[in-house]
Amino acid sequence: MTKVLIILFLIFTLTKSNNNVLPSFLQVCHQNDPNLNECIKKSVEKIKPMLAKGIPEFDIPSLEPLQISEILIDHGSGGISLKSTYSDIKVFGPSQFKLKSVKIDLKKDRVRIKLFLPYLRVVSKYTMDGRILMMPISGKGESCGNYSDIDVTVTMQGQRINREGEEYFNIKDFYVDFALGHVTIELKNLFNGDKHLGDAMNTFLNDNWQNVVKEIKPVLEDTIAGIFKKMTNKIFGKYPLNRILPE
Ligand SMILES: *[C@@H]1O[C@H](CO)[C@@H](O)[C@H](O)[C@H]1NC(C)=O
Repeated sequence: MTKVLIILFLIFTLTKSNNNVLPSFLQVCHQNDPNLNECIKKSVEKIKPMLAKGIPEFDIPSLEPLQISEILIDHGSGGISLKSTYSDIKVFGPSQFKLKSVKIDLKKDRVRIKLFLPYLRVVSKYTMDGRILMMPISGKGESCGNYSDIDVTVTMQGQRINREGEEYFNIKDFYVDFALGHVTIELKNLFNGDKHLGDAMNTFLNDNWQNVVKEIKPVLEDTIAGIFKKMTNKIFGKYPLNRILPE
């Protein structure tokens, strides 16, 4: 019963709170804190459990699973010429991220974050048509991928924007770079459900995942960066900079 009351109270205070006031669960870090990077890291660590569920008040969607409606990859270069779509994407595991470092440079409006993801499991619907490493591939169905030991570096170049007399931080460029430790994938129903060809192709893809990832990585990095840039700017657009990082 007390739990229910606390939750109701939380919902009430969160939804009632003024748009411009930071949610109280955020540990405030100050711009001139000599340990600003550490402070931000701690602040993020503290809200990690909430990130998993999502923080509607902060426009942060649930990270567990993270749901992405659609990704299109239309790619032609090197050993890959492929049109593929992924829809109803569910990513399990992102809330398990470990922040390795946060570096914020307020003079250059630049933020660099290094994090480690022990694993990600991605399930989605897919359609695919083209060639991978010279092999013709086509299919439509469900796909599943397991990715482990992922190192991610995120670099954000921001700019300051004035709105109604207040200064807001806005991400202009968002770069993602990642390195994968291991990958296994399964594309169901390849080649119109031809089990023999489908199994052979899945084995081929898993045996050659490093080459496949190398080809697709730039597109994936751009796509992921685009999704998180939007998400981040939604948050930054909500609170003036001097509320997010007071002097
Ligand atoms: C991914 O991992 C899950 C859970 O361990 C397992 O059930 C699934 O078969 C794996 N899929 C692939 C493609 O490795």
